[in-house]
Amino acid sequence: MDITTRRISVLPGDGIGPEVINVALDELPDHFEIEALDVGAERYLSTGKLLEDEDLDTIRGSDAVLFGAIGDPRVPDGVLERGVLLRLRKELDLYVNLRPFPELGVTFVRENTEGPYSGVGTREPDAATETSVNTRTAIERCARYAFELAARGGSHLTWVHKTNVLVHAGSLWSEVVREVSQDFPEVSLSYQHADAAAYLLVMEPERFDVVLTDNLFGDLLSDLAAGLSGGLGSAASANLHPELATRPSRCVGLFEPVHGSAPDIAGMGRADPTAAVRAAQMMIAALDKEPVTISREGR
Ligand code: IPM
Ligand code: MN
Repeated sequence: MDITTRRISVLPGDGIGPEVINVALDELPDHFEIEALDVGAERYLSTGKLLEDEDLDTIRGSDAVLFGAIGDPRVPDGVLERGVLLRLRKELDLYVNLRPFPELGVTFVRENTEGPYSGVGTREPDAATETSVNTRTAIERCARYAFELAARGGSHLTWVHKTNVLVHAGSLWSEVVREVSQDFPEVSLSYQHADAAAYLLVMEPERFDVVLTDNLFGDLLSDLAAGLSGGLGSAASANLHPELATRPSRCVGLFEPVHGSAPDIAGMGRADPTAAVRAAQMMIAALDKEPVTISREGR
């Protein structure tokens, strides 16, 4: 096989991020070149910088991102999360958040760019709104990925929402999932409300193979699934823009542990690096499927 250098941006981030990423770096084959970026709480606190244009240029020019964790008690909630991780998901249009739980036999396909994560909303002294944005394009491409994954694995697909309460978003999701399902007659499909899905994941996890859901439900249910399958220490995820033709940059995705920065145990040598190691393995596997030279201008 022809081995050509792969360029990886490594963002260890905050808390236990650097220590688990250090272990994960041992996984990388020799033809992987690493560019470490100092992004996170320390730099933010000393310089006010979150994600600079130069950081984004480096990341866009690399084949993939290996990410540790973000979040620090010294920085107000949301500043680092929105300013770094959610911004990267948006800028690189990483619309699938793939979270496999092999011990549980369940894989989550979480829509990764919209829903209540859009940042749209208002805050008045005694009232607040948080708008969930849902577009046909975003739902459809994510659904298509989930159906393809289920079709390849001969798996059952469960889509999860809360259509009995979130009637606006729910009806659009429902319509789009039904439309996409027409192209995959071989995939058996069912629906669960998010609350029932949480219950059933605990009580009857064997009902689930591939789970398709929106950004917030996917966030919550994937932590639940991690708890059911050995803990957050081993759950890894891939933030992907799977198809080359529409990818806005060279970067195939951002690979990270599902866990956070765990500042309470940072630097104590207690962090389990399994999730970071698995994230690195997911990255290597994704790059193995990619063409080595990418032709379109600017990639
Ligand atoms: C995750 C994390 C992030 C999310 C945070 C850090 C913004 O919990 O990747 O699951 O909510 O998506
Ligand atoms: Mn989460």
